[in-house]
Amino acid sequence: MIDLIFDLMDGLIKTHLEEYDPPKTNDFIDTYLHRHMRQDGSSFSGKEGIQNLRVSLLDLFVAGTETTSTTLVWAVLFMSQHLKVQEKLHQEIDKIIGNGTPSRDDRAKTPYLEAFTNEVNRKATLLPMTVLHKAMKDTEIAGFTVRKGTVILPSIYAAHHDVEYWGDPEVFRPKRFLDSSGSKVTPKDALMPFSTESDTVWEKH
Ligand code: HEM
Repeated sequence: MIDLIFDLMDGLIKTHLEEYDPPKTNDFIDTYLHRHMRQDGSSFSGKEGIQNLRVSLLDLFVAGTETTSTTLVWAVLFMSQHLKVQEKLHQEIDKIIGNGTPSRDDRAKTPYLEAFTNEVNRKATLLPMTVLHKAMKDTEIAGFTVRKGTVILPSIYAAHHDVEYWGDPEVFRPKRFLDSSGSKVTPKDALMPFSTESDTVWEKH
């Protein structure tokens, strides 16, 4: 399977190298190749640089495909179980986006859609224990000592289903992410579908 994905990536890299036309930058591979072409002895250079590009693409492919498609499957499931939610979403999308192409600017104008997405991410909790982490130094968290080298698995599931925080975590209720007027999304610290180090991970996503 990995070989198949690498074959796919190799084909993409080959096409990009053939069509390489600086300073044109259409995507991640072009941007990477700009740095690769500098041949500055860094990890972007030479054969090692191309190998690092293959692995980065594999990483993005593996991390980005099933997460997204499974989230969409959950979204469809929740919509099919909650027809009023589905109707509200439909109305908002019809009103703001209509038959046009959605843009980033639409996000601020579609609070219900954002609340729905948050609730899908919370309720589905796709990666309940995220991925393995390791403490890089002795650390103190809430009075507990975590020794350097300890393997850590943060439970996002626990945060997403904490009764004290959410009240009714088992219920699918997008409105919990909206203010009382229903027109503004209220951020919730306990929502962390992309893991606990929210700033850095958001940047990665
Ligand atoms: C709903 C969709 C997604 C969810 C729920 C999700 C969730 C996560 C989580 C929980 C982690 C582990 C973070 C950590 O604990 O350090 C992670 C890492 C990662 N994700 Fe996603 N992800 C999603 C979509 C994507 C997409 C679309 C991409 C790229 C196209 C992507 C690329 C990555 C990468 C590269 C990492 C590793 C980051 C690192 O080096 O630490 N993810 N993701």
